[in-house]
Amino acid sequence: MSGIRRPKGTQDLLPDGSPQLKAEFSARGHRHLVELAAKVLENAGAQYIQTPMFEMVEVIKRGVGDSTDIVRKEMFTARAQGDEFILRPEGTAPIVRAFVENGLKQLPAPAKLWTYGAMFRAERPQKGRYRQFHQLDYEVLGSDDPLIDAEAIALMMQVIDRLGVKKIELKLGSVGDPEDRQGYNQYLRDLFSPHEERLSEDSKARLVLNPMRILDSKSQSDQDLIAELQPRMMLDHLGEAASAHFKQVCEHLSTWGIPYTIDPSIVRGLDYYRRTAWEIHHEGVGAKSALGGGGRYDGLAELLGGPHTPGIGWAFGIERLLIAMEAEGVTLPEPEGLLLYVAALDESTLGVAAKLAFEARQNGKAEFSYRPKAPGKHIGDALKKNARYVALIGSSEAEAGTVTLKNLQSGEQRTIQQTELLSNLQGTP
Ligand code: HAM
Repeated sequence: MSGIRRPKGTQDLLPDGSPQLKAEFSARGHRHLVELAAKVLENAGAQYIQTPMFEMVEVIKRGVGDSTDIVRKEMFTARAQGDEFILRPEGTAPIVRAFVENGLKQLPAPAKLWTYGAMFRAERPQKGRYRQFHQLDYEVLGSDDPLIDAEAIALMMQVIDRLGVKKIELKLGSVGDPEDRQGYNQYLRDLFSPHEERLSEDSKARLVLNPMRILDSKSQSDQDLIAELQPRMMLDHLGEAASAHFKQVCEHLSTWGIPYTIDPSIVRGLDYYRRTAWEIHHEGVGAKSALGGGGRYDGLAELLGGPHTPGIGWAFGIERLLIAMEAEGVTLPEPEGLLLYVAALDESTLGVAAKLAFEARQNGKAEFSYRPKAPGKHIGDALKKNARYVALIGSSEAEAGTVTLKNLQSGEQRTIQQTELLSNLQGTP
């Protein structure tokens, strides 16, 4: 059997009615989130963008950073014809690569972009953590104004709000400018180095590459050492510029009544961040995992060979949003109901019935019977399908060019011309 199973950590997104359908893998749930986010983001001026599912490895190594778990142990790489590729682990570095490569700097600044799609990280799968997962992603390029940061966060909160999810916490911080981080990393190096032997293997490497990431470690021994040493926080190491920027972001959010908690120790899992960084957490998803996160990345375009282009953005995990909705008992909106069921009474009218249904699909959902049945049976089928109307067509109606239309809500039944079918469906509730 093993050959015909999907790979570990991947999921099939399934239609309603599938046995044991889980909320986070509901195909309708995924679509609902994408459509809702598209509305929120496009109403704010964002445009849709789509990049390839795989990139040249360099884009991710340079963009996301060598010290990250993503690059050190979670890359899905593939070789073909001498080139090495990586299945994209996130959307930001690819979008910035596309921005630079396609000259999108010509767009009016700031350029607001959004996308969604599958991302790939070779993680150890568990609930809410998969090897192929889906993100909703928003990026703004071309401005470092704190108002852009605050608007990005506000849009993220608006998506949550529109979904009906409530029990969230927005944790906001700043990782400073590169020179602030250098100073902070040196401070951490000095602090942790005398205790290096107590650090996990991963954190020994982080001590060299990016000591800040030790604070984010999932290892208990690392966390014990952190609790003992009580390091000062990044937020206390901000330079004047980053500090003033952060203050303004906070002020905008406060003005708009967006609740947030300042998290002085925020460390995101990607190296490109500068200044504002945040995560949104939900108790249903677990303390160690975020519903989504984002931050500013003013140096990323240059890392990818482009001109200096400040940027900021965020991504939600679609599966995690669906887990949060389920945890709060928020249900998906009902799909559109069946407008019309066209039912053939005789073998000879099956084709006409189908054609009438095709036409009615201009107005809404319409299905037709694949077999002729008695009128009562058809009406029973239409009621089971929650149809608003049923149109019955026997050979005498077919000859006369008519159809018997029954409104299943009011019970009213009339014989009308087939050519009038559409207008009769339109005018009624
Ligand atoms: P990230 O924090 O790595 O940020 O991922 C964003 C979200 O994707 C997470 O909060 C989580 O909901 C979801 N996610 C990540 N890994 C997994 C996984 N293995 N399984 C399920 N869900 C997962 C980024 O990716 C940045 N590109 C966000 C960003 C955009 N920053 C600026 N612009």
